[in-house]
Amino acid sequence: MKEKIAQIAQEVSALVAANKEEAEALRVKYLSKKGEITALFNEFRNVPAEQKKELGLLLNDLRNKAQDKINSLKESFASSDATNANEDYTRTADPVLLGSRHPLSLVKSEIIDIFSRIGFSVAEGPEVEDDWHVFGALNFSPEHPARDMQDTFFVEKNPDILLRTHTSSVQSRIMTSQKPPIRVLCPGRVYRNEAISARAHCFFHQVEGLYVDKNVSFADLKQALLYFAKEMFGENTKIRLRPSYFPFTEPSAEMDISCDICGGTGCAFCKHTGWVEILGCGMVDPNVLEACGIDSKEYTGFAFGMGVERIANLKYKVKDLRLFSENDIRFLDEFQSAY
Ligand code: DAH
Repeated sequence: MKEKIAQIAQEVSALVAANKEEAEALRVKYLSKKGEITALFNEFRNVPAEQKKELGLLLNDLRNKAQDKINSLKESFASSDATNANEDYTRTADPVLLGSRHPLSLVKSEIIDIFSRIGFSVAEGPEVEDDWHVFGALNFSPEHPARDMQDTFFVEKNPDILLRTHTSSVQSRIMTSQKPPIRVLCPGRVYRNEAISARAHCFFHQVEGLYVDKNVSFADLKQALLYFAKEMFGENTKIRLRPSYFPFTEPSAEMDISCDICGGTGCAFCKHTGWVEILGCGMVDPNVLEACGIDSKEYTGFAFGMGVERIANLKYKVKDLRLFSENDIRFLDEFQSAY
C-alpha cells in the first residue's frame, strides 16, 4: 500500500489539465467515490493496526495534496474565464455620443446673455393668446390685415383666441402687470399662416425687447442695439437704422448690420447692398403705454423684436429655414458648443 501511495503521490504532483473539464475528470479519477485515493481509504480499513498510524498519515497527506492540486487547477481556469484573454483592457474606451444644443437654442441663449449684461431679464408669455394682447393693446386698427385669417391662426372666433403672431404680445402682458422701470427680453415661438418654404415657415422664433422708464430716448435704443450687434457679430459690425412703420412704435425703424460675409462691399448674401436687415424697433407708441395703464407723459420706452432664425442664418449661413425644425441629426450634430 505504501508503494501505491507513493506512486499516486508522484502522479498527483505532475498533474496537468488543459481546461476545467479535464481538471474535473482528474477529481473523479482520484477523489470521487470510486476514485483511486478513495479506494485506498477503503483498503485502509483492513490494514493491520500497527501500520495504521504511518499509513494513515501518508494517506491523509496524499488526499490533501490531491485536493489542493486539483482545486488550484480548477481555479486557474475559473479566473481565466472572467478575464477574457482576448480583451485589451488598455485600449481607449468607445466614444460616448454627446448630444448638442439646437442652433436656435444656442442663438436664443446668446441673445439673452448679451442683453442680460445690460440689465435685461427674461419674461415669457403664452403662445395661445387673445386678440387684445396680440393686436388690440398694441395699437393695431380693427381692420389691420394681420387680424385676418389669412395671416393668423385662430383657435376660436368671438371672442378671438389665436396663436400669437409675434412676441410683442408679451409686452402688453408685462406692461399691464408691472410698473416701470421695465427692462425685459421676451423669447418665444410665434405662428403665422404662411406656406412652408426655404424662406418662410408657419412657426418661428422671436426675441422681443422692452425698456420703459423715465427719459428713455431713441439714443438709448440705438446704443443698446449697437452694443448687441457688436457682441453678436463682432467688434467691427456697423448698424444702420431705416425709418419704418409698426403700429406699436412711433417712430419705428428697421435695423441693418454691415454684411459680415463681404465686409460691406457687396455680395450675393446681402444682395450687393453691403447691409442685411436683422430687426424691427422703435419708441413705444404712447397709445400702447396708455392702453396698458402706463402714464405716457411720465414714461417713455423703446422696443425691438428680432427673428431667432434670421440671426441664426446670419451666424451659421443656413440657407433653408426648414432645417431648423426637421431635426435631422446630421444637421444638429454640427452645432457642438459650450453655450
Ligand atoms: N413684432 C414685430 C414683428 O413681428 C417685430 C417688432 C418690430 C417688434 C418693432 C418690436 C418693434 O418690438 O419695436 O415683425
